[in-house]
Amino acid sequence: MFDEKVHVMDHPLVAHKLTIMRDKNTSVKDFRELVSEIGMLITYEATRDLPLTTKPIETPICPMEAPTLAGKKVAVVPILRAGLGLVDGVLRMVPSARVGHIGMYRDEKTLEPHVYFCKLPKDIASRDVMIVDPMLATGGSAAAAIDEMKRRGCKNIKLVVLVAAPEGIRCIRTQHPDVDIYCGAVDERLNDNGYIVPGLGDAGDRIFGTK
Ligand code: PRP
Ligand code: URA
Repeated sequence: MFDEKVHVMDHPLVAHKLTIMRDKNTSVKDFRELVSEIGMLITYEATRDLPLTTKPIETPICPMEAPTLAGKKVAVVPILRAGLGLVDGVLRMVPSARVGHIGMYRDEKTLEPHVYFCKLPKDIASRDVMIVDPMLATGGSAAAAIDEMKRRGCKNIKLVVLVAAPEGIRCIRTQHPDVDIYCGAVDERLNDNGYIVPGLGDAGDRIFGTK
């Protein structure tokens, strides 16, 4: 359905956890925990290409040249506010990652997304960047966040989402063909209000209990 830059998690644990999240009766506490857990599982996939080197160690049995991460520098950048829910899961997998924040609002008339807040590690341009957000709907927010990261010199950018609409994937593939997209599931479509169907509702409200 999509090309090799779109990585859809094909894993029973992700499918099972997403089903619980989709259920409208799931509590805020459970929803928040599941965002973090799936974030961890998708990070496992999104870091598959991290380079390894080796170092000499001694096991209780013998010396060996053992694999170790080559020290690639990673930054995770949540799109405020719902993206915050994924940070903890990424950091559990990549504890040395730095964290940047990017805030986006939509112009009420034009619906264009605008960056209202952006605080990033100083050396962001030299880091591998994982932009995280539970929902990729029209793709407007993620595309604007990627624009901003590129404006600041980032070259290696990945987008990590829990649920994507085909419309959002097409938007990112068109505007940012260099960016790999990692998602827990691809749903059917968007409804007239820009919500993903079947989706899981407003991710920010469900993570923070604001509705
Ligand atoms: C949600 C979601 C994404 C965006 C996706 O955030 O977390 O950032 O919508 O929609 P798009 O692909 O059409 O841009 P929202 O604007 O609801 O803000 P919130 O995180 O504060 O809830
Ligand atoms: N933002 C959300 O939180 N949910 C959707 O389905 C679409 C955009």
